[in-house]
Amino acid sequence: MDFLKELTGSHSIKNICVLSGAGISKESGLKTFRDQNGLWENHDIYEVASPLAFKNNPTLVYEFYNQRRRQLLSDEVTPNAAHIKLGELEASGEYTVNIITQNVDNLHESGGSKNVYHMHGELLKARCIKTGRVYQWLDDLTGESRCECCHTKGNLRPDIVWFGEVPHHLDEIQQILLDCDLFISIGTSGLVYPAANFVTMAKSAGAYCLEINPHPTNNAQLFDYTIDKTATEGVIKIVENLLHIS
Ligand code: APR
Repeated sequence: MDFLKELTGSHSIKNICVLSGAGISKESGLKTFRDQNGLWENHDIYEVASPLAFKNNPTLVYEFYNQRRRQLLSDEVTPNAAHIKLGELEASGEYTVNIITQNVDNLHESGGSKNVYHMHGELLKARCIKTGRVYQWLDDLTGESRCECCHTKGNLRPDIVWFGEVPHHLDEIQQILLDCDLFISIGTSGLVYPAANFVTMAKSAGAYCLEINPHPTNNAQLFDYTIDKTATEGVIKIVENLLHIS
């Protein structure tokens, strides 16, 4: 059965925009932000993910992200079927596929996707607070770490967009949303802006808007259709349908 054709009718699909959130990486063993009553790995998220937190307690913030980085680089965390299927969809060349992710992990890239926009930064990067230069960073980051640009201790911070900071790639993201004809939101609670508003932008530009989430979200009513399944189940269904496998 052509599941998507039934949903979208005569709507033609060539240009696909995926918005992913923490839920897509849950089946890879990474915790989401809000599933544990606002506690992220036993911390209040504002305590570890804000410029004020970094100013008041840099050691805690460095260590928090060091633990996340070590976990991401361990053998335990690998891309799941949702990441891999999205990589296959892009590689098929049948569609233009852009992934806007709120996630700071690298699992979309490990799953084979190339067009990935990390709007909230990347765990495997560090940024100099004086020059803005960004470095690939696989080791622990501390107040003793030095950047190659100014060689001064304490100038490097995780390249993560914290609460109150401006997300990355907003100009490119706007264009992607204007150009897409299928928008798929996967594993995000729809509570954090501007990402929560992307469905409205895509919809206004004429896209068919799908959501994959096993639980009700804050902006569910804005989507044309919700697949209330996990990311792996939902993505396999959609991608196999788009690639005419099922
Ligand atoms: N598959 C798909 N979705 C899932 C799964 C799963 N297996 N398990 C849980 N989810 C859903 C939850 O139902 C929830 O809606 O994933 C969502 C996770 O929501 P949040 O924890 O709020 O994560 P996210 O939406 O990515 O958060 C947005 O908030 O703290 C900031 O910067 C941080 O990027 C983050 C942003």
